[in-house]
Amino acid sequence: MTSMTNMPNNIIEIKGLEKHFGGVQALKGVDMQIPQGQVTAIIGDNGAGKSTLIKCISGIYELTHGEILFEGQPVKIGSPLAARHLGIETVYQDLAVLDTLSVTENLYLSREIRKGIWPFQLLNKKKMAQGAAEMMDRVGNKTILIDKEIGYMSGGQRQAVAISRAVGWGAKVIIFDEPTAALGVKESAEVANLIQRLKGQGITVIIISHNFEEVLELADLVWIMRQGKAIASRKASEVSGRDLVALLTGAESA
Ligand SMILES: Nc1ncnc2c1ncn2[C@@H]1O[C@H](COP(=O)(O)OP(=O)(O)O)[C@@H](O)[C@H]1O
Ligand SMILES: [Mg+2]
Repeated sequence: MTSMTNMPNNIIEIKGLEKHFGGVQALKGVDMQIPQGQVTAIIGDNGAGKSTLIKCISGIYELTHGEILFEGQPVKIGSPLAARHLGIETVYQDLAVLDTLSVTENLYLSREIRKGIWPFQLLNKKKMAQGAAEMMDRVGNKTILIDKEIGYMSGGQRQAVAISRAVGWGAKVIIFDEPTAALGVKESAEVANLIQRLKGQGITVIIISHNFEEVLELADLVWIMRQGKAIASRKASEVSGRDLVALLTGAESA
């Protein structure tokens, strides 16, 4: 028997998760463990239930059955805000950054630092600029100018800002649903670098991707979903793209 001290610590544990939409059973009892501080990929055909699972973890959907443990404790993630309070951030393709604001303004969106006493308050711009520089530094992207408007930036840079914001405000788990699906080669490489830097900061990353090359390059662990269930997990270092295809299609049994 393996000693407990050698077991990876699971930051998220999903037990018997079911999600029904009327008569549609999108998730039919998912059991999944997400190790702390690693990059976990979730793969599966269209309709396998990947996005539904992510939406349950990020507080968008209520569970029909089952439970989610976060850092070993059962949690009810009733809203995206509740997920954020736990330290779970989700990055979607259409990012929540605002084009007409600067990087600093985006980083402090709805969390502006003010000085003085209401109604004579002013934004504390100096403090926000310092904080913004620190947030951008944490994920190691020093090429982005914090005074620049987001609208002028590439997709990869926009993602870096959204993620710096999440990390800067204490995210422990960052979930990417198809992060590079809409990006070109260069920008996909930027996102890959970003994911590696997040891992370097001890942050747990979950990534949904159709790109097996990307999955095998970035992930430590791969979960395979089929028809509303997590049917297998593999260490990325121990499988090939062909193995993953076989698992996905059911050619190889789990
Ligand atoms: N809001 C919804 N209402 C009804 N059915 C849904 C809804 N969201 C997803 N589904 C269904 O649940 C299944 C899983 O979908 P989804 O989680 O989007 O899969 P994936 O992300 O793996 O492609 C599909 O059959 C889909 O049609
Ligand atoms: Mg999806």
